[in-house]
Amino acid sequence: MTSANLQIRTICCIGAGYVGGPTMAVIADRCPEIQVNVVDLNLERVNAWNSEDLSKLPVYEPGLDEVVQRTRGRNLYFSSEIEIEIAKADMVFISVNTPTKTKGLGSGQASDLRWVEACARQVAQFARGHTIVVEKSTLPVRTAAAIQTILRAADQQIGTQGESRTFEILSNPEFLSEGTAIRDLEFPDRVLIGGESSEAIEALTSIYSKWVPLSKILKTNLWSSELSKLSANAFLAQRISSINAVAALCEVTGGDVREVSKAIGSDSRIGPKFLNSGPGFGGSCFQKDILNLVYLCRHFGLPEVAEYWEKVVSLNTWQQHRIARLVVEKLFGTVTGKRLAILGFSFKANTNDTRESPAIRITKDLLEEGAQLAIFDPKVTSHQIGKDLALSASSPPDDRNNSSQAALKGEGTWWSSTSVENALTGTDAVLILTEWEQFHDLNWARLGTKMRKPAWVFDTRAIVDPEIIKSAGLKLWQVGNGAE
Ligand code: NAD
Ligand code: UGA
Repeated sequence: MTSANLQIRTICCIGAGYVGGPTMAVIADRCPEIQVNVVDLNLERVNAWNSEDLSKLPVYEPGLDEVVQRTRGRNLYFSSEIEIEIAKADMVFISVNTPTKTKGLGSGQASDLRWVEACARQVAQFARGHTIVVEKSTLPVRTAAAIQTILRAADQQIGTQGESRTFEILSNPEFLSEGTAIRDLEFPDRVLIGGESSEAIEALTSIYSKWVPLSKILKTNLWSSELSKLSANAFLAQRISSINAVAALCEVTGGDVREVSKAIGSDSRIGPKFLNSGPGFGGSCFQKDILNLVYLCRHFGLPEVAEYWEKVVSLNTWQQHRIARLVVEKLFGTVTGKRLAILGFSFKANTNDTRESPAIRITKDLLEEGAQLAIFDPKVTSHQIGKDLALSASSPPDDRNNSSQAALKGEGTWWSSTSVENALTGTDAVLILTEWEQFHDLNWARLGTKMRKPAWVFDTRAIVDPEIIKSAGLKLWQVGNGAE
C-alpha cells in the first residue's frame, strides 16, 4: 500500500515528554478521527499523564490540562504498551530524549542517540503493514539515514505475524517553546516536513492541515529539515548571547540594555524578539543542539565554523558565573554564612522544567561560597531542586540547627521556601532568576522591611522598577543597567 491511499487512523508516539505529550494532545484535539497512543517506558510518567487530577500531569504548560481533558480517553491514550501500540500504528512519531553524550566518542558535544536507535529497532521489529516513521526528536544531520538503514533491513523481512512490511521515514522537527507550547502548537509559525516520499509527506500534511494553513507547511528534503532545526536553535541562542554581551558592556559604560534592545530591535531587519538580556539561556535544547552542531562541524572538517558556534555557549556559561561572582563582590566579597533568597528556579517562566536552568549554575556557585539559600519557585518541587543541586535540602531557619552548624563551618546549604515573603525574611540579598509574572510587581516596600540591611536586589531579568526598589531602601543591581 502507498502512503497516498494510506489514511492515517492510528498514531503511536514513542516518548511522553515535554514534546510528545503536548504535541500528541493537540493532534488528538484537532483530529478526533485519529486514535493517538502515546507510549513511554517510564511508568511513573505514564501514570502521571493518566492522573485524574489534571494538576498532576507531568508537564506544566498553560492550557495543556484543558486539551488533555477534552481528548484523553476519547482518542488520546497514554500507556507503556510500546510493542502493541507500534503494531497498531499507521504512523509512529519518535519523540524521545537526545541529550548530549557524557562519555565515549563525541562526549560533551555529540547527541546520545541510543534511545532513538532503540526506538528504530522496536519499530523494525513490531510494526505491521506500511508504517510512516516520523523523527520528532531533534537529531544530528543524517540521523534519518541510520534509522532508514535499520528499517530498510527489516523492510524485506517478514514481520512477527508473517506479513511483509514497508517503511517510509520523515523528519518533522518540533519548534515549540516551553511555557507557550500549546499556543505554539495550535498557531505554529511553520511546520517543517522533510522526506523523500511525496506520498508520506502528503499523509503527514493531511494531519497538520486540519488546523495549520498550507502556506505554513514547509516541505524540504530530509537533511535540510534536520539541519534547519539545529540552525534555528543556534540562531535564537546566538541572539541571547549577543544581547548578554551588550548587557555586560552597558553595565560598565552607563548604558541600559533595555534601551539598546529597543533601539536595535526597531530595525525591521533585526526585529524585537529574543533580545531580552538575562542570566543566560537555559532549557534542555539550546546548549545541547549547539554543541551537536559544533561536533558535526568538526566531523565534517569545518573547525572555524565549530569555533564560531562554540562561543555562543561559552559566553552563556560566562554570563552565569559572572552573575554569581558579582553577587559575592557586592556583598563585601563574601557570602559565607549569609542568607540569600532565590526567586525562581525553572529555566524560564510558566514551566516546571529546570533542565540547564541558569539557576542551577548560579546557586551552585553561591553554595560553593558557603551561602545559605532560601529558594522559592511557584512550580518547581523541592525534590527537583535537590536533584539539580546534587545536595539535599536543609531544614528552614526556625529549626535549622543543622544548617547553623553548616553555616559556622562555611558550608553552603539551601531550603525550599513556601512564599516570597518567607524566602526573603532575614536575607541580605534576593536574586530574581526566573521572570515569573508574580515577581514583576512585588510589594517591595513591605518585603524590604523583612531583609537585613544593607540589603540587595539582584534582578537578572530586569523586571523590577528601579525607583520602587530605591524608595524601599534597597540596593539594586539589574542586568545590563549601568545607569547610576
Ligand atoms: P523528555 O526527556 O521530556 O521526554 C522523552 C521521553 O522519552 C521520556 O519520558 C523517556 O522515558 C522516553 N523514552 C526514551 N526512550 C524511550 C523508548 N525507547 N521507548 C519509550 N519511551 C522512551 O524529552 P523532550 O523535552 O520531550 O524532548 C524530546 C525531543 O524533542 C528531544 O530530541 C528534544 O531535543 C526535542 N525538542 C524538545 C523541545 C522542548 O521544548 N523540550 C522542543 C523541541 C524539540
Ligand atoms: C527553544 C526554542 O525557542 C524553540 O523554538 C525550540 O523548539 C526549543 O528551544 C527546543 O528545541 O527545545 P525553549 O528552550 O523552550 O524553546 O524556550 P525559549 O523561550 O527559547 O527560552 C530558552 C532560554 O532562553 C530561556 O532560559 C529563556 O529565559 C532565555 N531567553 C529567551 C533569554 O534569556 N532572552 C530572550 O530574549 C529569550
